[in-house]
Amino acid sequence: MVIDMHAHILPKTDHGSDSMECSIQQCKKAAAAGVETIVATPHFYMDIDIIDYFLMRREEAYINLTKTVKYPKILKAAEVTLFPGIEKLDRLDELCIEGTDYILLEMPNTTGDDWVYQSIFEIKGKRGLRPIIAHIDRCSKEKAKRLLEMDVLIQVNAAAFTSFKKSYYVMKLFKKNKVHVLGSDAHGFADEYLDFHQAQKKLGSLADTVMSNAERIIHNEFIKK
Ligand SMILES: [Fe+2]
Repeated sequence: MVIDMHAHILPKTDHGSDSMECSIQQCKKAAAAGVETIVATPHFYMDIDIIDYFLMRREEAYINLTKTVKYPKILKAAEVTLFPGIEKLDRLDELCIEGTDYILLEMPNTTGDDWVYQSIFEIKGKRGLRPIIAHIDRCSKEKAKRLLEMDVLIQVNAAAFTSFKKSYYVMKLFKKNKVHVLGSDAHGFADEYLDFHQAQKKLGSLADTVMSNAERIIHNEFIKK
């Protein structure tokens, strides 16, 4: 099964899609790239949003989109940017990929702050959730090194395969099972799905493992690091 683990395709839920037309286009491009399931991950920024409103907005967008789009299958989730105190947020578990304990976490733009790693640790230990770190290919070397040492799952953006240097770097990580899943991180009219298709080709036989990891995640099964 081909699963896109990270995409901004729910209409008017974040800056990923400003209309139903855009979302429908995005889903068509995903289907053309062979995607069977899209994990929809609108941004959640704790400093400018209220979780109750976010969940309502996401639900409404999901209902509206799935009235029209029957394929690919869409799962509700979020891309949760880390902010100080987020590990204590009420209803945080509702930002997980639906039906699972897996939560996609985005690193903040700050550099080298210890609270970030403590927060991930507590989301895992105290809240009992299973973090997936979003697009490690966009993190600084220093952040990536610390994240790779943690007991968390890691997502890579398909766009990383468009750069020779990054492609080499992420392939090495996929081969060592240090990173686990692939996402389009589609925004706007979703040209990212061309990258997604190419990335799977470049992964070759590893693509099966990557997609099998994604399938296990959406069924809330454990993945050994
Ligand atoms: Fe994203």
